[in-house]
Amino acid sequence: MTEQLFIPEPYAFNLENGKVTWESPSNIALIKYWGKKKHQIPKNPSISFTLDKCKTITSVTFTKKEETDDFSFEVFLDGEKKDDFKPKINTFFTRIEAYVPFLKHYHFKIETKNTFPHSSGIASSASGMSALALCLISIEKQMQPSLSDDQFNRKASFLARLGSGSACRSIEGDLIVWGQTDEIEQSSDLFGIKYPYKVHDNFKNFQDTILLVDEGEKQVSSTVGHNLMNNHPFAEERFQQAHHNIKLLKPILESGDINSFIKLIESEALTLHAMMMTSMPYFILMKPNTLQIINKIWEFRNNTELHLGFTLDAGANVHLLYPQNESDKILEFIKSELVGYCQNGHYICDQIGLGANRIE
Ligand code: DP6
Repeated sequence: MTEQLFIPEPYAFNLENGKVTWESPSNIALIKYWGKKKHQIPKNPSISFTLDKCKTITSVTFTKKEETDDFSFEVFLDGEKKDDFKPKINTFFTRIEAYVPFLKHYHFKIETKNTFPHSSGIASSASGMSALALCLISIEKQMQPSLSDDQFNRKASFLARLGSGSACRSIEGDLIVWGQTDEIEQSSDLFGIKYPYKVHDNFKNFQDTILLVDEGEKQVSSTVGHNLMNNHPFAEERFQQAHHNIKLLKPILESGDINSFIKLIESEALTLHAMMMTSMPYFILMKPNTLQIINKIWEFRNNTELHLGFTLDAGANVHLLYPQNESDKILEFIKSELVGYCQNGHYICDQIGLGANRIE
């Protein structure tokens, strides 16, 4: 499949104005996307759990106007005008204009809010960009009702990717693959697909408790981060490893082997950070409390044999992954032993989710 296939036929209907609203979740990568080429093409495949509670809710109100050279839009976060969000959205609109050619024919009022605190250090780009992409494709669907559900989701993911790579994994659930790999049939660099193979019940309703170790803004922007993989001495090995790790993950998901799952995802998380530590310039994004938490998790696992594992994003926060049927004991441990390492004692309890929803 090529980009050209996302350029629509002339629209069947003309719209004067309207409003659409979508809520779209965040996601947490198990096999990490780190490194990209031009046009938001990933250098390696990734796979993620879609989350359930950490969401962005976005409404787009559109009003027909004369076509102009520039995009016409305003953005509000929690009801407050956010001009500092405009450059990112302008870049997004420029990248997607060929695929949603109505953008310059309307004025858009974009109103957005997150269910998680903006300052929590949780990336809102995946949920935010996917919610916006879904609103735009919903508008397109009104002009082109023949768009099937599959085409709708695929194009939403395709557009979201052009806003933020990981956002293409937030349209559906509960396990999404993005990036072409021989290990997964139908996988594509252009959009995310649902993981197409059998997943053992052990992974249904998996929990993700996010420990907010550092609630500040990201220390390294994703653009800078991905660029660190250009000319990185270990880059090629790492990209190959991601393919290999997906190959290893398949039988683990099928058999429900949570111990091997934990080994693999923890190694992925530490590899992501190892890539940052061995790039030029180099960064350490973990904080002392991140390491304290990791050591506590390992100690807990040795002592209890419960299935608590972790993964990390490009920051200091720790995502704790564990099966729902062990929640009681693990939450007790989190509250008594780990919350003390969180900034202001803050953490978020989330779990695997099924993807975005339109709000009527
Ligand atoms: C470490 O999707 O934020 O979370 O495409 O530049 O917007 P851009 O990057 P972004 O990168 C996410 C990187 C990661 C790993 C992952 O989610 O796979």
